Amino acid sequence: MAILHVLTFPNPVLRETCVEAVPGTDEIRKLADDMLETMYIAPGIGLAAPQVGVSVRMIVVNIMGASDDSDPHILLNPEILQADEEITAFEEGCLSLPELKVHIERPRMVKVRFQDLGGAHREMLAEDLLAIAIQHEMDHLEGRLILDYATSIRKDQYRRKVKKLLAERSI
Ligand code: NI
Repeated sequence: MAILHVLTFPNPVLRETCVEAVPGTDEIRKLADDMLETMYIAPGIGLAAPQVGVSVRMIVVNIMGASDDSDPHILLNPEILQADEEITAFEEGCLSLPELKVHIERPRMVKVRFQDLGGAHREMLAEDLLAIAIQHEMDHLEGRLILDYATSIRKDQYRRKVKKLLAERSI
């Protein structure tokens, strides 16, 4: 396994719409392993393939983080089949947008269809933090980031902050 470099905003790869993941290959299995290791080390509870520079539709989620790595969710080509009307709100962060937290409202429960690493079609029902994490990671597959949910004032503030950080780093 290897720890991958996590891309940060405004890297353009984070804005791409990802292509279908092809299950059953050694490459996709290795990518899933590496993404999990990268997520646990970060530490985070979810990671999408485009965040490590691979624009394919695969996400990994484990709301227990590294404290229990026995049963992570690895979802290829996830689709939301059903979303609950009940809404939940959470201060979301993202490894690709350091130092940003955005209050986001999402359905509290979602039914998701996906393929596993071997290509089998599966469905799962996710609630609360797991539902939030899955929806957050699925946003990445469309090039959507938590910044997009922020008010325009906060968007400007964050863009300015990132610009300043990048300028400092290049000196
Ligand atoms: Ni994210």
